[in-house]
Amino acid sequence: MTDQFAKKTEAWSGRFSEPVSELVKRYTASVGFDQRLALHDIRGSLAHAAMLHACGLISADDLAAIERGMAQIRDEIEQGRFVWQLDLEDVHLNIEKRLTELVGDAGKRLHTARSRNDQVATDIRLWLRDQIDALVVLLAELQRALLSVAERHADTIMPGFTHLQVAQPISFGHHLMAYVEMFSRDAQRLTDCRARVNRLPLGAAALAGTSYPIDREQVARALGFDGVCENSLDAVSDRDFAIEFCAAAALVMTHVSRLSEELVIWMSPRVGFIDLPDRFCTGSSIMPQKKNPDVPELARGKTGRVTGHLVSLLTLMKGQPLAYNKDNQEDKEPLFDTVDTLEQTLRIFAEMVAGIEVRPERMRQAAAEGFSTATDLADYLVRRGLPFRDAHEAVARAVRHAADQGVDLSALPLASLQRFAPEIADDVFAALTLEGSVGSRNHIGGTAPVQVRAAIARARTRLG
Ligand code: ARG
Repeated sequence: MTDQFAKKTEAWSGRFSEPVSELVKRYTASVGFDQRLALHDIRGSLAHAAMLHACGLISADDLAAIERGMAQIRDEIEQGRFVWQLDLEDVHLNIEKRLTELVGDAGKRLHTARSRNDQVATDIRLWLRDQIDALVVLLAELQRALLSVAERHADTIMPGFTHLQVAQPISFGHHLMAYVEMFSRDAQRLTDCRARVNRLPLGAAALAGTSYPIDREQVARALGFDGVCENSLDAVSDRDFAIEFCAAAALVMTHVSRLSEELVIWMSPRVGFIDLPDRFCTGSSIMPQKKNPDVPELARGKTGRVTGHLVSLLTLMKGQPLAYNKDNQEDKEPLFDTVDTLEQTLRIFAEMVAGIEVRPERMRQAAAEGFSTATDLADYLVRRGLPFRDAHEAVARAVRHAADQGVDLSALPLASLQRFAPEIADDVFAALTLEGSVGSRNHIGGTAPVQVRAAIARARTRLG
């Protein structure tokens, strides 16, 4: 054996005649980011080792040594004392090498019937499962914050918009409840995705399975998986579970981004429907009067980044032949950043939404100015026997007249309203009020405050 050979540290260097170049080492190493999987890697290894022993593949002493060594490594990592080495490429080899330093040959036996290919797939699934559980909790907190504001403002009237033009009056609580629906579907999507994440790759080994008499079901049970991945090639190579997660995450952010856009518009002094607490805003270094909604703006911006991660992973996967390819090492950073972005965004939004300061008088004024009860006048005429199209035409002419006069429909005298439709009587003014309009949409999914309160109660039950 040459000197050069004796110095080799790589777990796989046996067949190589020269060491890997420094540049390549840095290019191929993943330990800088995949060390984040360390505790899940240890968990997977312990379940694997217990199975190896139960199947007669390693001794009780070896298992005890592995458990002892792993306990120490866990401590070292948790206390920030573990020395990560770039030379050792990734989280798996760093931990295995340290284990062997601590417990000798037992550490070298751990990799029996296993490959880093099924190991890394297992680690990501274990890790992602925990992250999904945490994100579902955060989505529930955001929904609770929306519910509490919606409840306080079930009777607060604002203009509802289409095309960003005043359309019909609605309850502000109803508007917020739309986001509760979105975030509730987002949580369902994450939960659905979790079921497909929660399958065990271990046992697939490098790609074809292993010749050792292993018990995959035991490992699956020990790690809380719902079952095993049923094809070894698929188990080590597909990352569809991560892609699916990123798709669900991109939708969460898309919903956050829509809400952000509204917060920004509502907070603009021109609109003035709400204010955000100072602690969520920043000022300008040159314009002393400014208070900027940086948090919703940043969230809107970060949505692009999460959607980008989804596209990264789809693109990463599309050209890969079976089975494992090193391309897959590139799955981690987009996935980690997706989780981090969602985690931070949801946490801050739950707090910010709970602190929204609502300006009901500004909302009411805007609703009163935009002829928002024109549809109600048309509906009133339909109830008096006019075909809807004729009623629509009569009201359109009345609106043009009111606009010329610079007043709302409800400010026109009865006689001038009757010029557009003689069917109009003096009970029309009840239909033209904002409260009358909102209260009349009284069916499930409608904006009547009583329906908004019922929707809030249903959402509360759903959230438990
Ligand atoms: N660091 C690798 C990854 O993240 C682990 C699997 C490596 N397998 C291999 N055959 N090189 O995918």
